[in-house]
Amino acid sequence: MAKFQTQLVHGPVDTNDPYGAVVLPIYPATTYAYPAIGTAPQYDYGRSGNPTRHAVEAQLAALEGGQAAFAFASGMAAIHAALAIFQAGDHLVVGKQIYGGTFRLLKEFFARWDLTITAVDTRDLAAVAAAIQPNTKAIYFEPVTNPLLQVTPVAPLARLAHQHGLLTIVDNTFLSPYLAQPLRWGADIVIHSATKYLAGHSEVSAGVSPGG
Ligand SMILES: Cc1ncc(COP(=O)(O)O)c(C=O)c1O
Repeated sequence: MAKFQTQLVHGPVDTNDPYGAVVLPIYPATTYAYPAIGTAPQYDYGRSGNPTRHAVEAQLAALEGGQAAFAFASGMAAIHAALAIFQAGDHLVVGKQIYGGTFRLLKEFFARWDLTITAVDTRDLAAVAAAIQPNTKAIYFEPVTNPLLQVTPVAPLARLAHQHGLLTIVDNTFLSPYLAQPLRWGADIVIHSATKYLAGHSEVSAGVSPGG
């Protein structure tokens, strides 16, 4: 990969702009023309894909060292989408210190889907191991927590998860890919509230979920 700072400025997507714009223009179009009957354009409908969103997703996937990323209108939407991969009867081990909105989503919404959780202090590897049940599917945590900034190293937890065939899902909001890239340490899915440090100026609500 290009040097991180170079990657930040240039990104992996060529703007390909007919007027030579050096940043990718924002495409508000919801619908795209088919050049001819039977030939599918790269983008046809904004909800399914859009050049601007594609550039953001490709950039975040590259910065996190992932294979793909999916952008959302908020961090909670990204978390909701990531958790929706599980099925009724599944169990997750989650950090005791996770963002309150995530905890409420699990306790008040996903509980209705029969998704159960055990909350543990993820700094204690033995406690995490002891919380794993036969139906556990993932370990979900924040390596630097909101709000107490408790630090959990990713690699040991990812190793433990892989030993048990579990996914490791990391909310990397408080670090950003500039400070940590959890996929490189063995995590499977990373989540960001892009509303925070990725956007940086308190005027954008966004979420993103890159995966390895
Ligand atoms: C660590 C963390 N994850 C997720 C969220 C939710 O993100 P959003 O507010 O963009 O929906 C927040 C918001 O404060 C957060 O701090």
